[in-house]
Amino acid sequence: MDIKAIQTKPYLDQNMGTSGLRRKVSVFRQPNYLENFIQAIFDSLEGFEGKTLVIGGDGRFFGAEAAQTIIKIAVANRFGRIIIGQNGLLSTPATSYVIRKYHAFGGLILSASHNPGGPDGDFGIKYDNAAGGAAPPVLTDKFVARSKTIDRYWIANMPDIDLSAIRSLEVDGTTIDVIDPVSDYVSYMQEIFDFKAIRRLFSSGFRMTYDAMNAVTGPYACRIFEDLLGAPKGTVIHEKPLPDFGGLHPEPNLTYAKHLVDLMYGEHVPDFAAASDGDGDRYMILGRHFFVNPCDSLAILAEYIDTLPFYHGRMYGIARSMPTAPSVDLVAENKGYHCYQTPTGWKFFGSLLEADKITLCGEESFGAGSSHLNEKDGLWAVLFWLNILANTGKTPEELCRDLWRRYGRIYAICHNYMGLESEKAAQMMSKLTEKVPHLTGQIIADMPVREAFVFNYTDPVTDEVAQNQGICIYFDQYTRIVIRLSGTDSSGATLRIYMNKLVLDAKQFDVVPAEIMADLIQAARLLTDIKEYATNENPTFVT
Ligand code: G1P
Ligand code: ZN
Repeated sequence: MDIKAIQTKPYLDQNMGTSGLRRKVSVFRQPNYLENFIQAIFDSLEGFEGKTLVIGGDGRFFGAEAAQTIIKIAVANRFGRIIIGQNGLLSTPATSYVIRKYHAFGGLILSASHNPGGPDGDFGIKYDNAAGGAAPPVLTDKFVARSKTIDRYWIANMPDIDLSAIRSLEVDGTTIDVIDPVSDYVSYMQEIFDFKAIRRLFSSGFRMTYDAMNAVTGPYACRIFEDLLGAPKGTVIHEKPLPDFGGLHPEPNLTYAKHLVDLMYGEHVPDFAAASDGDGDRYMILGRHFFVNPCDSLAILAEYIDTLPFYHGRMYGIARSMPTAPSVDLVAENKGYHCYQTPTGWKFFGSLLEADKITLCGEESFGAGSSHLNEKDGLWAVLFWLNILANTGKTPEELCRDLWRRYGRIYAICHNYMGLESEKAAQMMSKLTEKVPHLTGQIIADMPVREAFVFNYTDPVTDEVAQNQGICIYFDQYTRIVIRLSGTDSSGATLRIYMNKLVLDAKQFDVVPAEIMADLIQAARLLTDIKEYATNENPTFVT
């Protein structure tokens, strides 16, 4: 076999944030930038010789080029088998499933999730372990440490592989399988959900619009909704994965999927709408003239998960990330499930899922998943909603109102300030951290602070510690502000200010969040002194 060792010099900025290494495409295109990082990952792993590597990707710009390089490095490092989706496409949840199904050693996912794509957009690399879950911090720390000392990588001298057709070939002792990215995942969804019931729902005239946002879920959604569930052609929009996502920001939320929101708040609207992000692990749910907040959505999934036979005998606890509103805690308490609170990032759910401590988990950032996989799963969440709608005959709005009537409504919003200077943002956080021990008992925007602390986490399974995971300021048990910096920026800093408030009076359930939260918004501005750090006192976007 013709394998070359190429001398290289380390890049010192290869850090893994909340979810993998994310950088501008132009950064990834620097000589050996990608090669270094892939070799740093392989150098940090042990015992993969002869084993299987899965390569997933969301089809974004630079992905095709990167996949060819990664195949060559994986062959040179003597993986026994490489599984890659046709045209390099394999959503994050499908990659996770394929890793488990084919007993792979692990997988690389070429995606920057919901960040924009194209030559001026972002690219990213995530690593999933044999359990199909995001590499835990102990492992990502090793990748990063190795990237800072790397001086050579191995690469096979071989032609590019044609990824346009499904086939299997052998190169220098490594089998390369180009697979249909959709079929394994879709069969699995058929095991979990009642496709017959959902089919009946569609045949009764129920209408939905699913927005794939020109990203990876298009082919999956067409197969599931239009081919298998009988939804009319045209149910799936923006269904063709495009390298630049057609200029869309593939993040399903009120700001970036505004066209879908406008559709659902217009006239002659479908009964239901949903969207996913770039790599298919996030989801958004809308009813007629109604937006389902992801924290409410998680609580509703918790309310109904025991109605799905797939989970019978497998119901353990529930977990949410700390900034996620505690609506799901109320359901968990009522149903007798233990509820864990983890730092932001799916990787923190992994150990709990693997140890059968939890069955369901989710984040306020439009992510939910279950023990069916070790990644969050957008289409799974949409199918779960359809299954609930089919079983109950209720609308999304009715389901939310049932939840609020039963437990109270926990309002949840997040103010996101993008494009802050990294140093200034860090300064702001450290100033605030210094204030934290003195906040209890203080009055901010007319509200006494009940408790304030920096969120530190000890994983109950591995005992690993994650410190400084956000600043929490509680005014009462369910009224709070959480402040943290994003860990998924490719450059600069994003400040996220999450606010929650429990409202028990049903007459107030229709008040808009900005009004209900006015005092908290004011308190957050005072606490962060945001005017000093952002060019505009108003957030870049609100979720
Ligand atoms: C964001 C979300 C977080 C999610 C992550 C990856 O991270 O807030 O919930 O797990 O993207 O999709 P952040 O940018 O806040 O670090
Ligand atoms: Zn994603």
